[in-house]
Amino acid sequence: MGTFREERRGPIEVWTLDAEDTRNAISRAVLAELEARVARVAGGHEVRVVVLTGAGDKAFCAGADLKERATMGEAEVRAFLEGLRRTFRAIETSGTVFVAALNGSALGGGTELALACDLRIAAPAAELGLTEVRLGIIPGGGGTQRLPRLVGPGRAKDLILTGRRLNAAEAFAIGLVQRLAPEGRLLEVSLAVAEQIAENAPLAIAAAKRAVDRGLGLGLDAALEVELEQYEAVLHSEDRLEGLRAFAEKRRPAWKGR
Ligand code: COA
Repeated sequence: MGTFREERRGPIEVWTLDAEDTRNAISRAVLAELEARVARVAGGHEVRVVVLTGAGDKAFCAGADLKERATMGEAEVRAFLEGLRRTFRAIETSGTVFVAALNGSALGGGTELALACDLRIAAPAAELGLTEVRLGIIPGGGGTQRLPRLVGPGRAKDLILTGRRLNAAEAFAIGLVQRLAPEGRLLEVSLAVAEQIAENAPLAIAAAKRAVDRGLGLGLDAALEVELEQYEAVLHSEDRLEGLRAFAEKRRPAWKGR
């Protein structure tokens, strides 16, 4: 451990990728720590939302560590990629909500990491891009699949085939980021969103996330079945009854997560 800084704020954890000298690139050590961290929060119920950001104001994450990559053979690159794909999928399928707070450049694997998160919030100076084809590779951390699901195939191909970078305003305009934070207020805005999510019933948040994600790509009838299945996951919960009681008693609900 030691490549992330962590700050706990009630049910929210802020993870700051802290490797400024490589612009917060993903080395093997960073990846191993990220995977362990995701497993820890996914295995418990205490951390409801993770805000993921990068140290400094230059980069959220400059993608794979290209200096380390230059020392790796094919088999090692393949193993790294498997770890990257496993970790990003674990973020996506975890019951914890992940908010990417984009403080600067998110390039290649940095954009792919942001894409695996549930929401992306950008500082004015943030830029994004799947720049891999410029390096003779393709996005291998899910970028060719998650980007078109988010912004549509035409826009995704525009970005992936040109490898161009887009600024925060353009990313917001095409739905690649969900919110723009005013200058100097990225963490404040991200925490406010995280708090709004964390106030809601834990089982409901996890079920709603699964309903959206599992329904994507299915036909409408199958997708509506997925929603029903996830509704069942909350129907029998104590928290559903607590929600009704709190409404009747005009007070804030006290969620139990069961
Ligand atoms: N892996 C390893 N080191 C990286 C890196 C990466 N992905 N990205 C940047 N660095 C290193 C640079 O090599 C440099 O190291 P040095 O001081 O030893 O020369 C240091 O970080 C600072 O980089 P610099 O380009 O001077 O910083 P900047 O603030 O002007 O720009 C970026 C930041 C992220 C915009 C720029 O570094 C960049 O475009 N990086 C390439 C990212 C990329 O193509 N990623 C996709 C991988 S598929």
